[in-house]
Amino acid sequence: MDMAFDGKVALVTGGASGIGLGTARAFAQAGAAVAIIDLDAEAARDAAADLGIGDRAIGIACDVSKEAEVEAMIAKVVDTFGRLDFAFNNAGIHVPVADTADASTDDFDRLMSVNLRGTWLCMKHELRQMREQDGPAAIVNCSSQNGLTGNPGLGAYVTSKHAVIGMTRAAALEYARKNIRINAVCPGAFDTPMVATAMRDHPKEMQATVDGIPLGRLGRVEEIASAVLWLCSPGAGMMIGGIITPDGGYTAI
Ligand SMILES: NC(=O)c1ccc[n+]([C@@H]2O[C@H](COP(=O)([O-])OP(=O)(O)OC[C@H]3O[C@@H](n4cnc5c(N)ncnc54)[C@H](O)[C@@H]3O)[C@@H](O)[C@H]2O)c1
Repeated sequence: MDMAFDGKVALVTGGASGIGLGTARAFAQAGAAVAIIDLDAEAARDAAADLGIGDRAIGIACDVSKEAEVEAMIAKVVDTFGRLDFAFNNAGIHVPVADTADASTDDFDRLMSVNLRGTWLCMKHELRQMREQDGPAAIVNCSSQNGLTGNPGLGAYVTSKHAVIGMTRAAALEYARKNIRINAVCPGAFDTPMVATAMRDHPKEMQATVDGIPLGRLGRVEEIASAVLWLCSPGAGMMIGGIITPDGGYTAI
């Protein structure tokens, strides 16, 4: 299986933390140049430096919900590395848990602006670059086990992650014969700062979530990164509009 990405260029949104950071590390270890994209400029720069690959890594500040920033971010990646082969659209947020009748509309809009609009904007501008290049390219969008199942109190999040699968499938079909493959990963519960915050704020509910994982434990970020890299590799050549569910069996129930 060919997982060597020497000479390739990858970007990871939300790359300064958790699943994004783990995936950026994996791309770097596989030989790719890596752009770490994050809302938090300093964290993006520090994370890029920590990859230990010198000027093959760059940290770029960008709010993925803002189109002008996304466009400028892609331009910066291409200015720096000359092309864009792989993108992992991973930036996402949670909002406070609330049943639908009690949920804040502002929270709903804020979550959609990042998880839904942000993922779509990144795909749009990545595709504008990728369609101009020679050679295969791949995009992986980050959905969730909640993109396939309901979850009480997480209506906005569940909606956004179902929508990520929909936009992945639609775009994948558009570019199926244009040498650009688009797929999604649906992580289960992974040990990241996002989940640590949820553990702190909702310990009982989160413990129930962990107890409900057939495997009986949280995932490790490397266990998502390997799926993302495989989806970008030539070995995944038949994967178009697909989803991979590293979720410890959660969606098998
Ligand atoms: N951790 C899990 O268990 C889990 C499970 C399923 C899906 N996911 C999804 O995986 C992705 C990453 O989750 P994580 O747990 O690593 O989260 P995290 O909170 O550790 O990291 C998310 C990163 O995204 C960045 N970010 C937030 N808003 C942004 C914006 N508008 N523009 C650019 N960057 C922004 C943050 O600064 C942060 O660095 C999310 O899409 C999340 O929904 C996570």
